[in-house]
Amino acid sequence: MIEIEAVSRAFGGVYANRDVSLAVADGELRGVIGPNGAGKSTLFSLVSGHLRPQAGRIVLDGERIDRLPPHRRAQRGVAIVFQGARVFPGMSVLANVAVGATARTRAGATSAALRLPRHRREEREIFAAARGALARVGLSAWADRDAEQLPLGQQRRLQLARALTARPRLLLLDEPASGLRAAERRELTDLIRELHADGMTIMLIEHDVAMVTSLADRITVLDLGEVIADGTPAEIRRDPRVISAYLGTDAAA
Ligand SMILES: Nc1ncnc2c1ncn2[C@@H]1O[C@H](COP(=O)(O)OP(=O)(O)O)[C@@H](O)[C@H]1O
Ligand SMILES: [Mg+2]
Repeated sequence: MIEIEAVSRAFGGVYANRDVSLAVADGELRGVIGPNGAGKSTLFSLVSGHLRPQAGRIVLDGERIDRLPPHRRAQRGVAIVFQGARVFPGMSVLANVAVGATARTRAGATSAALRLPRHRREEREIFAAARGALARVGLSAWADRDAEQLPLGQQRRLQLARALTARPRLLLLDEPASGLRAAERRELTDLIRELHADGMTIMLIEHDVAMVTSLADRITVLDLGEVIADGTPAEIRRDPRVISAYLGTDAAA
């Protein structure tokens, strides 16, 4: 479904991604791991359109997307939950989720300002989609709460709901479980597993190797901006380069 072909991106002469290639199949859950600074978040921004590659191609469902702006990629079904994403303060849970959906509608800001009929219809559709997504992540009962007041685990599920309102074909999750308590982490893991079981294609960056191993069909390992391994969780666990570059340091930490 998504093919990343020899993609490179440098910052100030240092490669954050260098010649990165990987392909994710329809319905696959792909784990992406690697030490801090390996280029994982950069890779996701290249796919979502928040960064442009300096070389290489990104193909979604046979169509090249690497020159499209983020909202055009969102319309084609790419959704991202950024690392450390925050909720919008002073807004309800439902409004937080709906705001995420507004960006990809056709009507846009002008008709929103004029409150044209098309805008009002889209607004109803957006809130219906937002309520559906909140139900999907188990937050319906919290829809009218102040989003900022939610515990972190529920704020993360809110972020997931915001991404789900777009009914994405490809969901990019950048360390969604970081900073969560064990019970919250388990809930989020179960939710991601359910989305995968429903057939959604997911790429998951996760620091917790046990979590990603339990969820992923395949894992790609990045180190210093390059892919150093790509395989099933079992293959990754016994790969000598992975053990020395990543699992070794992780075990020692
Ligand atoms: N916007 C940016 N400007 C400059 N350097 C960046 C930027 N984004 C990432 N980098 C650098 O690229 C490298 C990879 O970063 P990142 O993709 O965030 O890694 P990871 O998510 O694996 O921790 C790091 O050295 C980081 O400092
Ligand atoms: Mg990162």
